[in-house]
Formats: sequence, structure tokens, C-alpha cells
Amino acid sequence: MEWVYIKNLKDYIDKEVELRGWVRRKRSSGKIMFIEFRDGTGFVQVVVEKTTVGDENFEKADKLRLESSLIVRGKVRKDERAPSGVEILATEVIPVQIPTEDFPIQKPDHSIDYLMEHRHLWLRAKRQFHIMRIRDAVIKAIRKFYWERDFIQIDTPIFTGAIGETAGNLFEVDYFDYGKVYLTQTGQLYLEAACMAFGKVYNLGPTFRAEKSKTRRHLIEFWMNEAEVAYYEHEDNVRLQEDLVYYIVQYVLNSAYDDLVAIGRDVSKLEKIQKPFPRMTYTEAVKFLQKQGFDIKWGDDFGGDEETVLAKQFDSPLFVTHYPRQAKAFYMQPDPENPEVVLCDDLLAPEGYGEIIGASQRIHDYDLLVERLKENNLPVEKYDWYLDLRKFGSVPHSGFGLGVERTIAWIAGLEHIREAIPFARTLYRVHP
Ligand code: 4AD
Ligand code: MG
Repeated sequence: MEWVYIKNLKDYIDKEVELRGWVRRKRSSGKIMFIEFRDGTGFVQVVVEKTTVGDENFEKADKLRLESSLIVRGKVRKDERAPSGVEILATEVIPVQIPTEDFPIQKPDHSIDYLMEHRHLWLRAKRQFHIMRIRDAVIKAIRKFYWERDFIQIDTPIFTGAIGETAGNLFEVDYFDYGKVYLTQTGQLYLEAACMAFGKVYNLGPTFRAEKSKTRRHLIEFWMNEAEVAYYEHEDNVRLQEDLVYYIVQYVLNSAYDDLVAIGRDVSKLEKIQKPFPRMTYTEAVKFLQKQGFDIKWGDDFGGDEETVLAKQFDSPLFVTHYPRQAKAFYMQPDPENPEVVLCDDLLAPEGYGEIIGASQRIHDYDLLVERLKENNLPVEKYDWYLDLRKFGSVPHSGFGLGVERTIAWIAGLEHIREAIPFARTLYRVHP
């Protein structure tokens, strides 16, 4: 008998199949039992009738508890009322392992701490099933976008000797005789090297920030997608980000629409998104915020509340560009028209989800870069290889980093970023 996944059952109407999975729920009324069955690709109802399976099979089925692992053989029947469109009339029930304890997650009102403590089991819940499928769709979209545009994937290292972003939030690790190294905050510096070799490059990997922020937008370990393109200037960079984010939204709408609906996402909000995205300079944004009553002055960075108010004016994500040099990292190229600001942008998601992209044109002049490193009290000698890039065929180049979980939280409409990643690392949690 053929082993089939639930997702494909519609192609097997009236055929006999084998399913391998787990018992999600069970109810019974004497001679008939209904098992809500899952196999990782979907959910389907299995009907076990005593008269069809015989006494022995029925007794086995009777012993099943929640989250028992189970192989079922049976006939696929069309069922218009079922979300899967089918149900299974069992002919044989083969338990694989039956728990000896109650499954820890059964109530609708477990606290979030309890659920996070049982994340290894919570992942089996229906809502998590849909969220992880949305995550998968976002990641597929990212890779597809770059493949279609002839970018080369460059995997950047996780142990790094030089600070990539800011000194404030580094994880230090003892690295044999070398001494202290850091877990990467960003792969950007390495992508800058790679773009001088391959033109258009991207990465997708974990990054680390030892930030003592306990907000719904912060993870300690999160995934970032970064891109870097030689000869791209600020405007090219902004367009690339706009194309990417639009592409991701369209891809998820096409391939994970049912998952969005299943977790209650208001899909119309995503359908409203249009190119070009709105833009504001930092200076315009500060004026706007001051009018809204924010106590903010030119030079301050925006916090979560400011970002929310700025982005809520629009249906599509908002680019805020040309931040003051002091508010941003050492490597950003000054604006030739006003060197007090840099050629950068942050992309703010709608609906209060905050910054999903940080981006800039990079300094390509050797002397200016050395000056900025010193200004930021960074050890110039550790940046020898990064400075080399400015000695050998330096060109203007630009890039950005997209926070994968922030993007997922926004697209899926999650209340908190911790549900956007399978095993979240937050200020107070590294277990499980
Ligand atoms: O703005 P950031 O710090 O930019 C960089 O690291 C650049 N070097 C990227 C580049 O130009 N190649 O981080 C990029 C994005 C943010 O916009 C945000 O979406 C996400 O990464 N991010 C976080 N996501 C979750 N938790 C955190 N603690 C995050 N910090 C940044
Ligand atoms: Mg940023």
C-alpha cells in the first residue's frame, strides 16, 4: 500500500492509502471513533468503525492517546465539509508509540511562558503549523528572488574578529590562541568583500545581538538576509529593497494564503501593498513626529513608538532615508549634498511592526573609512582586510539587511516575534 501525505490525499479519492503521523484529537461513541490525524503536511479526520476494522483494530484504536504516533491504512473518501476535502475510512490501525502520560499541551489557555517552556511540543499545534509554513514561504521567496536576478549566495562566517555594526551588543567567545572573537551581528563586511568578486551577492543566516531589549520585536538570535551589490548607489539600493519586499508579500499571498487565513490574518492589508513604497527623509520624519507631540530633536534615533506612528500613515512599507551620521554605523557613505547625513534607509513595516530593513551605501574611500573607524573608536588594525577592499579597485557599493523574523511577524500579523522562529532565543530563554 502506498504511503501518502495528507497534502496529496485529494489525488487518491476512493483509493486505499497508508498515512503515517500522530493523533491530534480523538472522540468516540461506542462503535465508531473519530481521530483528528496530522502528519506534518496537514490534518485529516480518520473514521474508525468497528464493523469495518474488526474488534482487534478497534481495541488498538481505543488505546490511543493524544499525540500517539500512528500508522493508518484506509480508504480516501471525498468530504466537502472537511477543510482537507477528504476523510479516511480506516481499514487497519497500527500504533507506533503510545504515550504513558498526558500530553502537556491540551488546554486552550496555557500561559505564554508555559507554552515557550514546551516549545518542542507546542510546535505541533495547528497555529504553529501555519506560522512555520508562512516562514518557509518567506524564505523560499527570498531565495527565489535572488536566483531570478543572478545573485550569488555567499555564506558569511558566524565567528568574526571585527565588530560589524556597533560595539554595544556583542557576544564574546574564547577562540583558542586568538583570544576573544564575536558572534556575528551582520555578514555585511564579508558581503562587501564578496561583491567585489561576484558583483551581486546575498546571504541568509543567523545573527546575534546581546541586546537587553525585552520587546515584541527583539530576538537575541535572529536570521538576516543581506544583499550587497558593487556599483549600486543609494537609489539602486532602495529599488532593490522595494522589489524584494513586494516580491515576498506577493509570493506569500500566492503560496501561503490559506495559512494566513487560518491564523486570522487580515489578508486585505497585504493585498493593499503597492509599489513604489512611500518615502520620507529623516528630517521630514522628525518634523512630522514633533507635530504629533513627540519630544524628539534632530539627531536622535527613532524608537519603536516613533516608527509605529510614522509607518501607520501608509498602507505600504515606508522608507525613511538620510539619517544623521551620528545615529548610524561607521561604514555609511555621507550624502555629497549634506555630509551631516548619510546615504541610508530604514524600511518600516506597516501596522506597527517596526524596522524590517537597515540599508546604506558604503564608504568606498580609504581615508574617509579610516577616519570613521577612528571616530568610532574601532581598532583600525582589525579592519585591515576590510580596508584592503578600498585599496584594490574600490567602487561605490550598497546593500542592506532584512530581519527575517520581523518580516514574518509582520506578514503573519503576529503579536510577538518569538512565534516567528522555531526556537526563540530571548533575554530570558534559551530552553528548549
Ligand atoms: O539595521 P541592522 O542592525 O543592519 C545591519 O546589521 C546591517 N549591517 C545590514 C546590512 O546593511 N547588510 O539590522 C538589519 C535588520 C533590522 O532592520 C531588523 O529587521 C533586524 O535586522 N534586526 C532584528 N530582528 C530581530 N531582533 C533583533 N534584535 C534585531 N536587530 C535587528
Ligand atoms: Mg537598523
